[in-house]
Amino acid sequence: MNAIAQKQNPLFAKFDDVMKSVLRVPAQNGVGSFWGRRKLLTYADMFCGIGGFHTAGDSLGMECVFACDIDEDVRTIYAENYGIKPEGDICQIDAANIPDHDVLCAGFPCQPFSIIGAGAGFADARGTLFFELARIIEAKAPAAFVLENVKQLATHNKGKTLSRILEILRGLGYTVDYRILNALNFGLPQKRERVLIVGFRGETTGFNWPTRKLPMIPLSELLEAKPDPSTFVSDRIKRKRHAAHKAKIKPAIWHENVAGNISSHPFSCALRAGASYNYLLVDGERRLTPREMLRLQGFPDTFKIVGNDSSIRKQAGNSVPVPIVKHILERVLHAERAESSEIKRAVKAA
Ligand SMILES: C[S@@+](CC[C@H](N)C(=O)[O-])C[C@H]1O[C@@H](n2cnc3c(N)ncnc32)[C@H](O)[C@@H]1O
Repeated sequence: MNAIAQKQNPLFAKFDDVMKSVLRVPAQNGVGSFWGRRKLLTYADMFCGIGGFHTAGDSLGMECVFACDIDEDVRTIYAENYGIKPEGDICQIDAANIPDHDVLCAGFPCQPFSIIGAGAGFADARGTLFFELARIIEAKAPAAFVLENVKQLATHNKGKTLSRILEILRGLGYTVDYRILNALNFGLPQKRERVLIVGFRGETTGFNWPTRKLPMIPLSELLEAKPDPSTFVSDRIKRKRHAAHKAKIKPAIWHENVAGNISSHPFSCALRAGASYNYLLVDGERRLTPREMLRLQGFPDTFKIVGNDSSIRKQAGNSVPVPIVKHILERVLHAERAESSEIKRAVKAA
């Protein structure tokens, strides 16, 4: 995407200077203290990946105080881009070693756990990564959290898995709600539906889910003008695709499903950590470049591509769409309790 398109699109709008200067005051008193105080909002980035939450947090003037991810490649990419070396396996992390923070963010891996009856507390989640997350939320008691997972979490085990997750989080003293949100409605040319769970410690009345649909960045703005020649598929694959499908639009992303049926759209189907490389082809003739995949998730071009292409493709496919979490975090910031504080006045004055 060119610089002008970035500047004009609200997705890439810089967080205003007024807000930044008001909030950029050293953290104090830790847990939950941002409500009603002049300070920088702090957050922890659990299961951080390549930092979809971090990129969103940066654009809002928030300060990351802790990150963790078990994948060494991810930790290198994260450190290069954000200057923080994430810790590793969450199971090995003592909550006492995590700095206090206002908001806990996590795109936690979906590991279904068995459902026992209500009131079993953590028992039924023990041994899962969600349990590890809940353990840290309980110990650190952040003022709010924002969690992300695949859309299928909402229907897994007839909805019981998500219900149990919400119940456990409520049991920790949080007001919790969730929505399924689609990156397409946040300006990205990617159909990517995700479950977003937002919680506030105690009661809150001020949080509203985003409802306004943002205009989609045209694919033509996002595709590279001179993609690496290695992204083009062989003549044999190209002929096969073009024999099976005629696209009505160009540029388009051609999507081949597991049954071998091909469809094309002016947006991409959901990137995947493993397979996007082969099942999504631009105009039926080439694979997406790592930069294009990052753009499809809302990462700015200042994001440094570190390591080999296959690693960045995998991580880009794993990432949370930046504008979705940016809009959620912005609303967390604007929530009722913040509105009764000096932050409220800053927001109004901006
Ligand atoms: C869905 S991805 C999160 C992506 C991230 N939100 C982003 O924007 O890039 C889940 C991440 O959890 C990490 N992970 C899996 N098991 C873990 C563990 N035991 N401890 C810490 N991180 C883990 C994976 O390496 C992966 O990067």
